[in-house]
Amino acid sequence: MEFLVCNTYEEVSQEAARIFEAQLKAKPDSVLGLATGSTPLGLYRELIRAHECGGLDFSRVTTVNLDEYYPIEPTHEQSYRYFMDKNLFDHINIDKNNTFVPNGKAADPAAESVAYDERIKRLGGIDLQLLGIGENGHIGFNEPGAALHASTHVEVLTESTRNANARFFASIDEVPTHAITTGMAGILTARKIVLLACGKNKHAVVQAMLDDTVTTQIPATLLKCHPDVLFLCDNAAYKG
Ligand code: GLP
Repeated sequence: MEFLVCNTYEEVSQEAARIFEAQLKAKPDSVLGLATGSTPLGLYRELIRAHECGGLDFSRVTTVNLDEYYPIEPTHEQSYRYFMDKNLFDHINIDKNNTFVPNGKAADPAAESVAYDERIKRLGGIDLQLLGIGENGHIGFNEPGAALHASTHVEVLTESTRNANARFFASIDEVPTHAITTGMAGILTARKIVLLACGKNKHAVVQAMLDDTVTTQIPATLLKCHPDVLFLCDNAAYKG
């Protein structure tokens, strides 16, 4: 794992954007694995700017998002489909038919999960995967536990995650209790991974990423086994 500390959140976003731009220039029909949460917002703003000012072309790009709350309507303002449309897809020249987010209102979420993994396989796998990190070390919505799931599945969200995400909802009671998330295999088979961690509240989990331990109790530590991970964090997350 390559580890880089930037001074500020803006620098982390710019550094990450450079990697995405380089990826699209090298392979205009890349399959990008995308993430939600507040951390990638700066990167998405940079990519929109690169599209508007530098002509960065998304016309041949396919995107596959990590996860979605369950159950949730795609039109709900806190759904990850809504988030992606509002914060990225509506501002770039991507064909929305080529943007995939798990269906938060699937009648059969287990079947949706199987179909999601099959889609990723059909697309030829993910070229570049973006990840944020939960305060408890979750990636996607793969929550800490005695064991993790390899495949896309329905996850029960921990209280810690629901509390952390409650800031986006009117109250904690409105935060969904479940999510459909890509599993650890879906993440670890991406050819290249960029992991972002910003802000003081990520300090403890950043420290756990910097020793040699791998544990399912901190799912992000499994990334230490991947051959091509760039871990970008800001000073606040690094120093606490
Ligand atoms: C959510 C998402 C994760 C994300 C995490 C951190 O739980 N499922 O993919 O990494 O939040 O969010 P933030 O960047 O807002 O700290």
